[in-house]
Amino acid sequence: MSGVTPEGLELLIDAATLSQRVAELGADLTRDYAGRCPVLVSVLKGATLFLADLARHLEIDCEVDFMSISSFGAGGASGVVRIEQDLSGNIEGRDVVVVEDIVDTGLTLQYLMRVLEARRPASLEVCALFDKDVRRIVDLDIAYRGFSIPDTFVIGYGLDHDEVYRNLDSLYSVTDVNALVAVPQRYVGSFFPDAGGPNQSR
Ligand code: IMP
Repeated sequence: MSGVTPEGLELLIDAATLSQRVAELGADLTRDYAGRCPVLVSVLKGATLFLADLARHLEIDCEVDFMSISSFGAGGASGVVRIEQDLSGNIEGRDVVVVEDIVDTGLTLQYLMRVLEARRPASLEVCALFDKDVRRIVDLDIAYRGFSIPDTFVIGYGLDHDEVYRNLDSLYSVTDVNALVAVPQRYVGSFFPDAGGPNQSR
């Protein structure tokens, strides 16, 4: 990104470091799923950038499928999750890898794993890019993990605040959420100084 990191945000993981780690995860999956054709199940919308980059590092056949879920309760803390959009294919007897952007309390993923397990896949593993493990309140087995990150709200590389910021190529920690809420366009514009910045409308 050529612009300046605006006030209220702090660079946590830069694009080159993300790219390197995603390549390593791709190599791990390539090795472990050699001779098989796993289904990469991506959870909309946050994991889409990660999925797209990860899939390009898989040197084996694979399929991709998508699910959309929503959580209820403050910050999703109730653990009550609803499927908004289901997979298009049947995963019974298939090797499934859930490609997740971020695991926080773990409640969302725990629910999702139960739903997928009930469909009797041959195997079911998780590949999560960011892990806020200090916030975990349920036990989860994450076979492929990108980064352990601190307890801070993060945006970029697929992760949003109020649907904005997913298109940033690095991961940023939000240090001043009030500034972000007040004028989100100004912040995105700071990263793309030649693209209009503050005057964009949403
Ligand atoms: P969990 O159920 O508490 O593990 O929450 C997981 C979901 O919360 C993720 O899939 C994200 O959608 C969202 N989430 C958790 N932490 C963050 C964050 O720091 N930034 C953006 N989204 C987050």
